[in-house]
Amino acid sequence: MATAPITTRRDGDILVITSNNPPVNALGAAVRTGLMAAVLEGAADADVRAVVLRCVGRTFFAGADITEFGQPPVFPLLPELVEVIEGSPKPIVAAIHGTALGGGLEVALACHYRIAADGAKLGLPEVKLGLLPGAGGTQRLPRLVGVTEALTMIVGGSPVSAERASEIGLVDRVVGADALEAAAIAYARDIIGEPLPRASERGERIAEAVRDPAVFDRFRQAHGRLLKGLRAPEACIAAVRAAVELPFADGLLRERALFQELLAGDESKAQRHYFFAERAAGKIAGLDASVVPQAIERVGIVGAGTMGGGIAMNFLSAGIPVTLVEREQAALDRGVATIGGNYARNVRSGRMSEDAAGAAMALLRPTLALADLADSDLVIEAVFEDLAVKTALFAELDRIVKPGAILASNTSYLDIDAIAAATGRPEAVLGLHFFSPANIMRLLEVVRGAATAPEVLATAMALSKRIGKIAVVARTCDGFIGNRMLKPRQEAANQLVLEGAKPWDVDRVLTAFRFPMGPFQMADLAGLDLGWDAATSQGATLREAMCEAGRRGQKNGRGFYDYDAERRGTPSPQAEAIIAAFVAKRGTVQRAVDDAEILERLLYPMVNEGARIVEEGVAQRASDIDVVWVNGYGWPIGTGGPMFWADTIGLDTVAAGLERQGVAVAPLLRRLAAEGGRFTG
Ligand code: 3HC
Repeated sequence: MATAPITTRRDGDILVITSNNPPVNALGAAVRTGLMAAVLEGAADADVRAVVLRCVGRTFFAGADITEFGQPPVFPLLPELVEVIEGSPKPIVAAIHGTALGGGLEVALACHYRIAADGAKLGLPEVKLGLLPGAGGTQRLPRLVGVTEALTMIVGGSPVSAERASEIGLVDRVVGADALEAAAIAYARDIIGEPLPRASERGERIAEAVRDPAVFDRFRQAHGRLLKGLRAPEACIAAVRAAVELPFADGLLRERALFQELLAGDESKAQRHYFFAERAAGKIAGLDASVVPQAIERVGIVGAGTMGGGIAMNFLSAGIPVTLVEREQAALDRGVATIGGNYARNVRSGRMSEDAAGAAMALLRPTLALADLADSDLVIEAVFEDLAVKTALFAELDRIVKPGAILASNTSYLDIDAIAAATGRPEAVLGLHFFSPANIMRLLEVVRGAATAPEVLATAMALSKRIGKIAVVARTCDGFIGNRMLKPRQEAANQLVLEGAKPWDVDRVLTAFRFPMGPFQMADLAGLDLGWDAATSQGATLREAMCEAGRRGQKNGRGFYDYDAERRGTPSPQAEAIIAAFVAKRGTVQRAVDDAEILERLLYPMVNEGARIVEEGVAQRASDIDVVWVNGYGWPIGTGGPMFWADTIGLDTVAAGLERQGVAVAPLLRRLAAEGGRFTG
């Protein structure tokens, strides 16, 4: 008898093995033990002629149990189980619904046949955890679908649909979800007596790569973006290469060795931390299933600029009607045209069908009348970032919009409580801080005011899921989580340059740390003249001095860098001279600043601010800060986010570094450093 959570039953001469391990049928020790016993039971029972392997609940096996990684191994290990499945003398048919991911797909690859339900997704996302498929996936998948498809799935980590899986030879049949079990049993009965197709024995799909090994370099060149300077994507390529170059058994050994190496490394630890951090971010203390979110059937947006338009697209794409308000017809038309243009681009690039784009646009109701927002369930304001402007608008919205509807501000740093106080419904007011471009960036800071009601918060969280955002809850404060931590970094960057570091050295140190760009590249991109006024400029800051010299950033080809026609920047001698003159005027003597100092001065104060954010309760937990910074500001995923990174290098090191810099160490950081503690689990 198989052990729970695995059960078996007989349907004539077919053994049906069922896994029931909520929530996602992860392949933990109990599941592996049960499966091994069930497969062996099928092999030993003379009355069983074929086997169906299925799962109940939300999904087919969603992978190895990630919580077991880093723990002492419990037998049977997944690779052993997979070998026993493939080696079964009786055909095994995997019946896949939901998501067959990672080790889950590897189990399916070891089965002799795969039937997928309509809507199922199949993938090997291990690379996103800083790993590679470690139960034969890198060896079997290329043998089934060919090297190029396998590389795309393994190095990219994105799942394919059941339909696509069928096209590339990954599944044998796609059936309606309701008919899956019956279809799998019927299929199993059909193939009784046929020779057993084992992926490990198939050579024809990898034959081409054996003849043309340059396929790996071509893939690397075409998909440089996927490599991200991380170790796992390269290891994935090396493992697939082993499938082509080595006999199957040796390829498995190579895969195993690479997997173990990645598993023990810091990058995978960081990425696994991030996986759980993202899931933890959705959990709010005091908010359980008894708090019912409000229904959101129409969203109103005030402001059709870049931000408002981007925000609108999130809802339109999710099938939620939007009323978009602007003050003047020309601005409204421009906003609508931009939204239409973005959808057209999505269609051209194949990201969206023409029908879906048309359906989204049909849900848009542009208007000049604020009164048209009356029937909205949620109104989001994306107007000029000024407290007086926002409070006046909220007072008006409060009069117009139906009682009970939620009023949200997209402010990136203003006080939500002050905005809420302008209304007669502070319990229905909160911040929804989208990041630019709002239709693309996945992060959403959900800012709760002192009075925000639990149902309102629950509604924002549920809605963010519906529109595919990763929501992180913050309490109101200047800059919330993300921008509040950006500020000390910006200040440190400026100070470093005044002391003698070159802007390009500061940028280089951050990009070497694998930020997509440094603060001066970012400043040039955003425009140095943001908020600058020639009439009042007195050359008091370096930025003013740059603007006065006509250096406005990328927009006029001259900022801290000089830009060519392709917007490639090179360090600007003129910018260097402006900095030197600025410093001389202040009487400061410049000195050489080394890379290690630059990194510490930029990043330690951020961690310190993060500690204050946690101890003040602005963020619920340190890992939420990591989610904000990885998603919204390009903090390199391979280090897990600022707080996990600080844990990795040691909080005593960070505290000592801050003291050297003359920065007051946050009490939480000081305490944890003294205790040998950590910010994250
Ligand atoms: N191991 C352990 N726990 C897991 C898990 C896994 N593989 N996958 C999901 N969970 C947990 C989550 O942490 C979460 O727990 P919580 O409720 O306590 O927070 C719960 O299951 C539900 O997960 P989600 O909130 O993510 O549920 P969704 O419905 O939004 O998504 C999913 C479902 C698409 C399956 C998503 O959970 C997912 O992508 N999971 C990870 C898949 C993955 O990476 N698999 C590969 C694992 S590594 C591997 O297999 C190595 C092998 O090659 C040897």
